[in-house]
Amino acid sequence: MEGKRVLVTGGAGFIGSHLVERLGARNEVTVLDDLSTGSLRNLASVPGQLHVKRSSILDADVVAAAVAGQDVVYHLAAKTSVPESVAKPDAYWRTNVEGTLTILKAAADAGVRRVVFTSSAAVYGTSEVNPKVETMRPEPASPYATTKMVGEFACVEIASMKGIETVAVRIFNAYGPRQDPRSAYAGVIAKFCTAFAAGKPIEIHGDGQQTRDFLYVGDLAEALELAGEGPVADQVLNLGSGKATAVSEVARVLSEITHTSPRIAHKSPREADIRHSLADIGKAREKLGFRPRTPLREGLEKTLAFFRTAGTQT
Ligand SMILES: NC(=O)c1ccc[n+]([C@@H]2O[C@H](COP(=O)([O-])OP(=O)(O)OC[C@H]3O[C@@H](n4cnc5c(N)ncnc54)[C@H](O)[C@@H]3O)[C@@H](O)[C@H]2O)c1
Repeated sequence: MEGKRVLVTGGAGFIGSHLVERLGARNEVTVLDDLSTGSLRNLASVPGQLHVKRSSILDADVVAAAVAGQDVVYHLAAKTSVPESVAKPDAYWRTNVEGTLTILKAAADAGVRRVVFTSSAAVYGTSEVNPKVETMRPEPASPYATTKMVGEFACVEIASMKGIETVAVRIFNAYGPRQDPRSAYAGVIAKFCTAFAAGKPIEIHGDGQQTRDFLYVGDLAEALELAGEGPVADQVLNLGSGKATAVSEVARVLSEITHTSPRIAHKSPREADIRHSLADIGKAREKLGFRPRTPLREGLEKTLAFFRTAGTQT
């Protein structure tokens, strides 16, 4: 993508900041973020001129002004924790559903060409059928997953009623630098890397043989860029690596990289955790030419390097 005007909601967050970094040099990028979990520090190395609006996506006037004149809107701003969504379903509905509707309506009114909405593999729910294909019946099993499913429906509806293009991407387990390791349910790779960087024990829930589809955030940013322009209008696409990796394998590779064997604290399996989750990425490959490039070991090296430096700064 080049020479475009692009709005990234949630652009100061983990995934958003990598997308902004990728697009920044060749496009005019605006970030709309209330900095509730994101940080301006995440945008420190963005090339080119960057506009930042600090506001909630729930403020319709600010949103209208932010989307005006944009070619593409990437809508990433959201509340993202499954367990927190169980505790605070209303807050999740407000930000993730009402916020998404505010963005979609404003984008349609402003004549934005395309909105890319970040949905989640969570919409597949507890089904143990793998790999997950976009045609499978969604079975959201948490308020968070439900808000993402409703967001997908809203994308389809606004596209058919108002004629703008929408794309919903179902992201699997993204990992990489700048992921927040602090919450109890943070991504396992961010948690492991923080522990390895600090020489602390790592926690494994269950036997460690549960698998996830880990996608390096740099590859995800590339896929998102492709989704902003590729022939995928009004479609739903899985974005993952297409590979299943056991949690214990992540720990093993980190041990290999660091030449250390940290103590492993075995914890009881997490309630309602699915055993295996794997994306079929055939559609993204075929329609967008998406090829995840970063092998797990290389992605873990980059992530660990980030957390080592971050550790010395706190
Ligand atoms: N990280 C993953 O593996 C993953 C997997 C599936 C889907 N997703 C989706 O990708 C998107 C980005 O996730 P992330 O991991 O970068 O999370 P993140 O928390 O790092 O980023 C979310 C950003 O949105 C901002 N935000 C939250 N509420 C806002 C509001 N009301 N108004 C404006 N800004 C607001 C936060 O400050 C933050 O910068 C989310 O929509 C998430 O649901 C992420």
